Amino acid sequence: MRIIAEGAEAQVFKAVLLGDTVIVKTRKAKGYRIKAIDDDIRASRTRIEARVMERAHSSGIMVPRLIAVDSFSIYMGLVDGKLMKDARIRKDSYGRLGRILGIMHNADIVHGDFTPANIMVAKDGLYVIDFGLSGISKSHEEKALDVLLMKRSLGESQYRWFIDGYTHSGRESKAIMGRLAEIELRGRYQVRTLG
Ligand SMILES: Nc1ncnc2c1ncn2[C@@H]1O[C@H](COP(=O)(O)OP(=O)(O)O)[C@@H](O)[C@H]1O
Ligand SMILES: [Mg+2]
Repeated sequence: MRIIAEGAEAQVFKAVLLGDTVIVKTRKAKGYRIKAIDDDIRASRTRIEARVMERAHSSGIMVPRLIAVDSFSIYMGLVDGKLMKDARIRKDSYGRLGRILGIMHNADIVHGDFTPANIMVAKDGLYVIDFGLSGISKSHEEKALDVLLMKRSLGESQYRWFIDGYTHSGRESKAIMGRLAEIELRGRYQVRTLG
């Protein structure tokens, strides 16, 4: 196994399984937690991550193919492509990305880290990866935060194209955009009172 990425929560490896290159994502132990508690948290986060990937797949979103899950690791198919943040992409990809988030939110999937660093551009389209902070929720607040994170990552016109797609596919996108406006106002208010 060769390590290809290491973040705060997980190590990601490339491995060969029965002749196929696969990705293994393993949640790291946190030494500052009591081991039994840490094991429970990691196992439960791993299960949730795999479950949400499965749900995204059933909703028609392209995600890495789930191969196997054990206590702290997810084995998945390798997406042959580039991270969206490093790829040169056409304008209509942003609209498609917005539609993808709308479809996920329709299925009550909240990604939790929806940025161009967690989207891969492959020949057959856009793949959503890294469900490490994701969950199932109907909360407009949490859905709005997915939109807000992407807003902060995109340029102005890119964000407009993204929102076109999002409002097109997202059933509750109007209410969620309303909540987003509230969140931003709240943010500004905070900055003002603190400053
Ligand atoms: N299925 C996959 N196919 C190809 N590359 C992947 C896949 N999953 C993860 N990666 C690579 O590993 C990196 C880290 O994976 P990610 O799930 O985003 O974990 P982290 O929580 O560390 O950000 C990604 O940025 C991507 O480059
Ligand atoms: Mg990531």
